[in-house]
Amino acid sequence: MSSQTIHILNGPNLNLLGTRQPEVYGRDTLHDVETLCRRVAAEYDLAILFHQSNHEGEIVEMIHEARTEGLGIVINPAAYTHTSIAIRDALASCEIPIYEVHISNVHRREAFRHHSYVSGVATGVIAGLGIEGYAAAIRVLSHAEKRPNFELNP
Ligand code: DQA
Repeated sequence: MSSQTIHILNGPNLNLLGTRQPEVYGRDTLHDVETLCRRVAAEYDLAILFHQSNHEGEIVEMIHEARTEGLGIVINPAAYTHTSIAIRDALASCEIPIYEVHISNVHRREAFRHHSYVSGVATGVIAGLGIEGYAAAIRVLSHAEKRPNFELNP
């Protein structure tokens, strides 16, 4: 795997994007998200590994695959954001930057969405930008590559 690779990980129900609660998540599909990510990454000569799973353990294993190699992780843990200590612990073991992305603004939604187990181990958090949040995270990671101390001196 190239150090120029960004891992994009998507949690449960995101396979239904486009048809699931479009008033909350919009009409773009997960395939549209992947196309957007690939287009933005290509602007910076970066490669993308794009995954989605409805299973917590599978997401933990994807994080293990990503933990030491690549430029960074962009993760939308979906509902596991609010429940999964296992995903938090896996992310805490990572040696590369992590951006947590939510399509919706979780802070203006139900109270149970206000707490994230992931944010405390993430480099940054993006919420409410729609699928553009994924593009924003990729752009930030492209800067991180040019500024290796970005993590230490934000
Ligand atoms: C989400 C927000 C979560 O609260 C929810 O469970 C999701 C999607 C988002 O992208 O806005 O499935 O992560």
